[in-house]
This record gives sequence, C-alpha cells and structure tokens, in this order.
Amino acid sequence: MIGAGIAGLSTAWELARAGHRVAVLEADRIAAGVTGHTTAKLTALHSLIYDRLRRTRGPEGARMYAQSQSDAVERAAAIAAELGIDCDLERVPAFTYTEDPARADTIRAEADAASEAGLPASYVTETGLPFPVAGAVRVEGGAQFHPRTYLLGLAEDLRARGGLIHEHTRATGLDEGTPCRVTTEGGTVVTAGDVVIATHYPVFDRALLFARLSPRRELVVAGPLPADRDPRGAYITPDRRTRSVRTAPYGDGKRLLIVTGETFTPGTGDTPERFERLADWARERFPGVEITHRWAAQDNDPTDTVPMVGPFHPGARHTYVATGFAGWGLSGGIMAGRLLTALIGGERPEWAGLYDPRRLGTALREAPALLGHQVHVGKHFVGDRLSTPRADSVDRIGPGTGAVVRLDGRARAVYRDEDGTAHAVSARCTHMGCLVAFNAAERAWECPCHGSRFGTDGRVLQGPANRPLERRDI
Ligand SMILES: Cc1cc2nc3c(=O)[nH]c(=O)nc-3n(C[C@H](O)[C@H](O)[C@H](O)COP(=O)(O)OP(=O)(O)OC[C@H]3O[C@@H](n4cnc5c(N)ncnc54)[C@H](O)[C@@H]3O)c2cc1C
Ligand code: FES
Repeated sequence: MIGAGIAGLSTAWELARAGHRVAVLEADRIAAGVTGHTTAKLTALHSLIYDRLRRTRGPEGARMYAQSQSDAVERAAAIAAELGIDCDLERVPAFTYTEDPARADTIRAEADAASEAGLPASYVTETGLPFPVAGAVRVEGGAQFHPRTYLLGLAEDLRARGGLIHEHTRATGLDEGTPCRVTTEGGTVVTAGDVVIATHYPVFDRALLFARLSPRRELVVAGPLPADRDPRGAYITPDRRTRSVRTAPYGDGKRLLIVTGETFTPGTGDTPERFERLADWARERFPGVEITHRWAAQDNDPTDTVPMVGPFHPGARHTYVATGFAGWGLSGGIMAGRLLTALIGGERPEWAGLYDPRRLGTALREAPALLGHQVHVGKHFVGDRLSTPRADSVDRIGPGTGAVVRLDGRARAVYRDEDGTAHAVSARCTHMGCLVAFNAAERAWECPCHGSRFGTDGRVLQGPANRPLERRDI
C-alpha cells in the first residue's frame, strides 16, 4: 500500500481484516495529506451529482453510486463502534442548498434524482442555517467525524493484526513484475503480490490519468460559535462561490464552525484575499463566530466526476489505484477500501465498473472537460516558457514573499525569509516541467498544471511530483 490517507489506510485495514499481509509506505505521517485537512463530512450527498449521473450513467449508475457511498458511511460508523475509536462521530443530515431562486429547479431535480437513486432525500426550503435558502436537498443518515483520530484507530488495529506501517518512507519506483517491487527514496526494495497506489494524485502514472484529473485547492476557516447557533447539519452550496459549512465539538458551550470555499487552481495567486473573503462571509452569516483557524487543502476532479478506483491501467494485473475523489474522498476512500479488497480477493462488486479507472464508455462525454484541462495545462507548459519571469530582480522580493525570477537565463523560484536571506530553487516542477508560482498565504511553491506543491526549500509537499525542486545558488 502506498499512501496512508483515508483511501490507503482504509484499504490496508480491510485487506488485513480479510486475512492478507499488508505493508503501508507513507511519505509523511498518517493522515498528513488531504485527509488531515478536510472538512470531514461523511455523506452520500455530494453537492450536485445524482441528476448528472442518471443522465450520464443511467438510473442504475446513480443507484450504485448512492448505494456504495451510503455503505461507506455506515462502514465508518460500524468500524468506529467496533474498534471503540473516539473520533467525534456524530450523525447529521446533509444539505445541498441554493440561495438563488433561479437555481431552485436544479436543486429540485437533484432531490428527485437522489431519491430515485435510493437515498432518503427530500426537497426542503427550511434548513438550520441562519439565513434563508431558495431550496435545498436534504438527505438523512449522514455523519461527520475527526478523520485523523479515526485513521489512527484503524492504524492501531492494523498493527495488532500484523500489518506494517512505515511513515516517512517515500515510494519512488514501481516495477510491476511478479512479485511487484516498490523502491523507496532510501533505496529499500519492498516486494508485494499486489500494490495499491493511494497517494492522492498518483505519483506513478501508466494510464495518462494526469490528463483526466484537475487539481482544485480550497480554503478553510474555523472558529468557535455559541452552541445555540449550531446549524445542525452538513451544508454545501454549488452557487457561484462554493461554500461548505459544518460544526464540530468544541466544549465550553460552543461548537467549532468550519467553513470551506474559494476554490481555485493551485498556483493562480490571490490566496490572502481569498482567505479574507471566506472569513468575512463566515462572520457575516454566523454572527458571533470568532475566526481562530485557517488552512487549505486540495482534491482532484476527474473529468466525469466519478472517482477512479480499480486496476491501475488496461494491462495491470496486480496494481491498483484510488484517486479523483472530487472533494468527497471520505466516503469515497472508505468505499475504495472495500472495493479494492474485493478486487484483490478475486471478487467483482456490482459497482466495480462504475469506478473502473479504465472506463472508456464515458470518454466521448468527457472530451470537452478533457480538452479544457489540456488547454489549461498546455497554456502553462508552453506559455510559461515564452512569458517573461514574474519578478525582474531578487531585490524586489520582500521578506516572507517569493517570486519566479530569471537568473543567468534560467527561471528560479526565489523566496526571501523573514531574516532577509534569499533562497533559490529551480522553478521547473519536477513532475512535467511547468513553471511553479508562489502561494503567499501558505508560503509554498505551487504548480498550476497538476497541482504539485513544494516548500520554500524545494521539498515535495504534495504530488504528483515525487522529487524536490533542486536548490540553486543566487
Ligand atoms: C478543503 C477540503 C474539504 C473536503 N471536505 C470533504 C468532506 O467534507 N467530505 C468528504 O468526503 N471529502 C472531503 N474532501 C475530500 C477528501 O478530503 C479527499 O478526497 C480525501 O481526503 C483524499 O484522501 P486520499 O487518501 O486519496 O489522499 P491523502 O489523504 O492525501 O493521502 C495520500 C497519502 O499519500 C502520501 N504519499 C504521497 N506520495 C507518496 C509517495 N511517493 N510514497 C508514499 N506516500 C506518499 C501522502 O503523504 C498522503 O499521506 C475535502 C477536500 C478538501 C480539499
Ligand atoms: S504538477 Fe505536473 S507539471 Fe507540475
């Protein structure tokens, strides 16, 4: 198993429980990736998906999606209860709402499609939000929890079952022989009958998955709210500026309000302004909240919005992938754990085809999204080489900021620390060579092509890049 986020650890645990010997390689720590920075709603209501699915995959496809995702929510609740994991799991209804009367019909259609797919869904105009909505889909049976605590509980039980977890161990090579061989950054070779790549964006790619995944970064602000103002539910709106809302236990007569939004492509700037906009929205809509925390994370949107979970590529016999969760990888990751365990055990659940990364039936329908993504990537790949660098001199870079500068004819990513010392690394992303850009709010280098992220010292924070940006002299 490569990767110890929700997808990797859920799969490792399900495999161990089914009697397999499992080893997990994790580049960082358990749940240090997206799973540790998520909003952690567990629901089968994924914003607007069912009306689209019944058109693109038919009513049966929508039903299988609803069933497999609902099963995952129940699986998490059952595992937490069975293993006694105290992960703040609370049952709450999920809502997709609009404030725009012109979109009420879209919401009504989603409620209808979700209900037809088998979910306990209804169309409502009243919610627990402290502001009016034009309409909302309400689905019962959802939950919310603390994902890292949950995964640490799974990890403990996995170890008790004889499973091995190696943190701070980056996989850098994969040989798909019999057995498969995974090479780590330290040079160790691990052999395994089957390998699952659960590194979020796949760090190995033998099926051009990168052409079908678009990275989407989102910001999160949080802070205590008087408990009597708890909206009691997990909310999301697909309106122009996406907003997602839920609360978590906080103590002291309060709940922790968590608000997500301000989606953007990594490496496209303006992050401090976006954080301010999100915090202003939270304060305006939830009077009394005091914003105390902020963070960001990103997920990958597949061109047809359905996760890719299954065989790694058309010729794969013992390698599997779980990716493209489109912002819903908690139920998606748990679903992936069950699906991959079945596939590795020689079974084929009825929804295997729905999530199969090799699916071609939807290729034509995906074409416009695929083309749009490639135009965006091509613009950065070629355009970056033609355009002038973003700062004309290292001297213009102030403390705590960074910019791409041309030095001796080469693009360098230069960051000046608070002490005034400038640090340079290559500005060419080690994935496929696009030019990185500075994220001022998070002080990181980001690649707009497929979302790789690097620290100011060049180390990899997030793939698909798997090698650091090389240090350069100034
Ligand atoms: C702001 C935000 C809010 C969200 N809210 C929700 C929500 O409410 N509900 C929901 O269902 N989903 C939500 N999601 C989506 C969900 O969080 C993700 O889809 C999910 O966490 C992805 O899990 P993962 O296991 O695929 O990735 P990760 O958690 O990132 O795990 C991948 C792991 O692989 C490791 N890794 C990478 N490269 C290597 C390598 N070479 N060798 C070894 N290890 C490696 C990484 O260190 C990482 O730990 C949200 C996403 C965002 C961005
Ligand atoms: S992430 Fe692919 S080129 Fe940078």
